[in-house]
Amino acid sequence: MIDVGAGTGAVSQAASPRLGPTGSVLAVDLASEMLAQLRHRLDGHTPPPIMTAVMDAGFLGVRSSTFDVALSGIALQSMPDPQAAVSEMCRVLRQGAHSERRCPPDGGGRKTAMAVARRAS
Ligand SMILES: C[S@@+](CC[C@H](N)C(=O)[O-])C[C@H]1O[C@@H](n2cnc3c(N)ncnc32)[C@H](O)[C@@H]1O
Repeated sequence: MIDVGAGTGAVSQAASPRLGPTGSVLAVDLASEMLAQLRHRLDGHTPPPIMTAVMDAGFLGVRSSTFDVALSGIALQSMPDPQAAVSEMCRVLRQGAHSERRCPPDGGGRKTAMAVARRAS
C-alpha cells in the first residue's frame, strides 16, 4: 500500500493492520519533518512494516504497477496539482487495485466525503 501525503502517519497506521502478514506500507510526504514524526510514532510498531520516503505526490519515484492499494487522507487539497497526484496514484497501482481519497468537504471534518477511483486499465 502507498499512503500519499502521509503526514505523521494516521492513515498508514490505521490501514497497516488490515494488510495481512505479507503486507507493507510506503508512506510518502513532501515534508521530511512530518515523516520524522511518523517514524517516531512507529517506535515499537508491529508488522506489517511502514516505510517512509520523501516524495512529491506529483512525481512519485516508484515504478508503475507496484501497489495493490493507494490511499491519500486529507492531503490532495493541500497540493498545488491534485490531479497530477491522482494520476500518479493510478500509475503506481496494479491492474484491478483501487485508490481512495478522503477529504472533509467542509474543512471541519464533520462529514467525510469519499471518492473511490478504479483504474480502468
Ligand atoms: C493535512 S496533512 C494529512 C496527513 C495525513 N494523511 C492524515 O490524514 O493525517 C497533508 C499532508 O500532505 C503533504 N503534502 C502536501 N503537498 C504534498 C505533495 N505535493 N507531495 C507529497 N505530500 C504533500 C503535507 O506535507 C502534509 O503532511
